[in-house]
Amino acid sequence: MTADLFEGVTDIGPSCEMMAEGAILLRGFAKPVEDALLAALREIVAQAPFRRMFTPGGHQMSVAMTNCGNLGWVTDRSGYRYDGIDPESGKAWPAMPAPFRELAQRAAEEGGFHGYSPDACLINRYEPGAKMSLHQDKDEKDFAAPIVSVSLGLPAVFMFGGAKRSDKPKRYRMEHGDVVVWGGPSRLFFHGVAPLADGEHAVLGRRRINLTFRRAR
Ligand code: SIN
Ligand code: FE2
Repeated sequence: MTADLFEGVTDIGPSCEMMAEGAILLRGFAKPVEDALLAALREIVAQAPFRRMFTPGGHQMSVAMTNCGNLGWVTDRSGYRYDGIDPESGKAWPAMPAPFRELAQRAAEEGGFHGYSPDACLINRYEPGAKMSLHQDKDEKDFAAPIVSVSLGLPAVFMFGGAKRSDKPKRYRMEHGDVVVWGGPSRLFFHGVAPLADGEHAVLGRRRINLTFRRAR
């Protein structure tokens, strides 16, 4: 039985690891376009600076955030939502730059999600100690489109669980350039980021940047 030979094999390509059904980890996938991503990021941040938002419960998040694209994810005392306007500036969010969109589309394609057209990109900045508790991405209108998540800068431990909060998450070390795509059967899986360990990244210094692409509407 040749099938036995492949039992338990999760490495489905030279740089593609299967995390769950519908979820893949593409090691170093963003590396070839890092300069274009970082140049575009600088322009976004000049228009829409990082800020630490408040949860509906009144807690200030340790992760600083901004957005680009037609819609941005925001949280304040009134709840979580997608909004076309940056509440800090009263202006539209910066447009999604072509290198961002193209990377997200190519990554989605690798995961078997064709014609991905993200309208929102949440940009997270982690400094040492910052973390994101286990949560589901469920503020989007429909869940047919996957989430594409790009890691840049300091390494972090990404936790990827299951459909229930109580499902024990697996831990993955995300390095500069790594990309995760999750959709289909794992679209609503719980995930989070462990407190960022201190360090110095050659390009980004003492921080990790994460780009999270979504189809919000
Ligand atoms: C998120 O779930 O929005 C962030 C995930 C990450 O920073 O890797
Ligand atoms: Fe998330």
